[in-house]
Amino acid sequence: MSATKTGIKVIVVGAGFGGLTAAIECQRQGHDVEIYENFPQLKVLGDIISFGANAGRIFYRWGQGEVVSRLKPLCINLKDYGFRIHKYDTGEVVYHQPSAPDTPDAPPMHGHRGELHKVIFDYARDDLKIPIHLDSPVTEYFEDESQAGIVLKNGKRVTADVVIGADGVRSKARELVLGYFDKPKSSGYAVWRAWFPATEMAKDPRTKEFCEHGDTFNGWIGQDVHFLFSTIKGGKNCSWVLTHKDEHDIDESWSFPGKLEEVKEVLKEWDPLCTAIIEKTPPTALVDWKLVYRDPLPTWISKHARIALLGDSAHPFLPTSAQGATQSMEDGVTMAVCLKRAGRGKVQAAVRTYQDLRYERVRKVQKTGETTRDLWHKTDWAKVRENPSSIAFPREDWIHGFDAEKYAEDNFADAFKAQTEGPAPKAETPLGMTANASPAVVA
Ligand SMILES: Cc1cc2nc3c(=O)[nH]c(=O)nc-3n(C[C@H](O)[C@H](O)[C@H](O)COP(=O)(O)OP(=O)(O)OC[C@H]3O[C@@H](n4cnc5c(N)ncnc54)[C@H](O)[C@@H]3O)c2cc1C
Ligand SMILES: *[C@@H]1O[C@H](CO)[C@@H](O)[C@H](O)[C@H]1NC(C)=O
Repeated sequence: MSATKTGIKVIVVGAGFGGLTAAIECQRQGHDVEIYENFPQLKVLGDIISFGANAGRIFYRWGQGEVVSRLKPLCINLKDYGFRIHKYDTGEVVYHQPSAPDTPDAPPMHGHRGELHKVIFDYARDDLKIPIHLDSPVTEYFEDESQAGIVLKNGKRVTADVVIGADGVRSKARELVLGYFDKPKSSGYAVWRAWFPATEMAKDPRTKEFCEHGDTFNGWIGQDVHFLFSTIKGGKNCSWVLTHKDEHDIDESWSFPGKLEEVKEVLKEWDPLCTAIIEKTPPTALVDWKLVYRDPLPTWISKHARIALLGDSAHPFLPTSAQGATQSMEDGVTMAVCLKRAGRGKVQAAVRTYQDLRYERVRKVQKTGETTRDLWHKTDWAKVRENPSSIAFPREDWIHGFDAEKYAEDNFADAFKAQTEGPAPKAETPLGMTANASPAVVA
């Protein structure tokens, strides 16, 4: 790594995909970066997560393909199988969507969140030697015109030129940026989800076909409910998610142990194959994950523009967009480019430019989560028979063909000029923000 040193000191709070990407890209662009993370040790947590080709393109630049070659073997391979969409009750396959064409330097990837996260975490810490301070919960943020900083639980203060708050959906950085606590609201939906060994699945004649010929991906769609099921690791692991109506109130935590009986109740009129799959789930593997709404934040950056929100802390996504983690990565790439192009004397304008380059795109991609959910939950079956591909999972070029680094490099100059020479910069009204934007949706 031989980027020219910029002398810009960056603190990243949070070592999720957003924070790790921001740190890796800041180092690539020549900044000095350190990460502060709450968890005391890395654990392989979560279940299925998706990365679009627009994330694959970012991963591919890390170690010139090396990181992709570490991730790929962990991911689902649907080259032969594709994605099969079933009508919820009869189980008939209404559309068989072939796998996306191979793009080796921008591979879309889907796998276990914890396993993929470990690869990126290890790359940042062990290959790049980025300092990652674990067991370091940040309790306060501060800034003035010339610097920003954090206070750790143990009282230690650390300062930098810029602080990136990549601290997830329950962000503390967001409180500082907004000046108030932004309470999440129920979206009316929840997701039951599970990942477990396919041992029992392979024994049942009804389900063994999903384990014997490599990886598979199937979805059943019905009114207000959809069920996605995949087998991974050559059919040795399986994972399912079931999105359904849920009226429960949201409180501080929105991930709970789930009850298999409740899942079966929702699926009782459905293709019996769905229940056969559900029955194989070890009860401890089941998670009940509430989907909450959050109004779009008026701004992602602090008053003095030295603290910026990034990833879920700024803009959580619905799982049906399959873009939450990917968009957090695009944020990190963009921030690193803006800081490099602006230079150490113009950090605040760089941070404002980061927001301007990202805001509009993020809102547009967030919307696709609602569009896909509604497409599946309000299916007109007669129309699907006329045009089966109308039910396909959208694979739009403006999302997946996007190169965040190139976009930031190409558009930096104009956006920066608008910030520094235009009318007085107003962080409250970023480019592309519409007055009556509808609520953003949160995973
Ligand atoms: C444990 C876990 C499991 C998940 N499982 C899935 C899944 O199965 N499927 C899926 O699609 N998505 C999952 N997600 C969400 C997904 O990873 C994110 O939506 C996406 O990657 C964007 O990530 P992010 O970096 O913005 O936020 P996150 O991934 O949420 O990362 C935020 C990080 O900040 C840290 N943090 C928070 N507060 C502080 C603080 N005060 N001080 C220091 N550090 C702090 C957190 O410990 C966390 O590591 C999971 C997230 C987590 C944290
Ligand atoms: C995946 O399958 C293997 C082989 O059965 C098993 O050892 C492993 O625990 C499974 N992984 C998860 C997360 O369930």
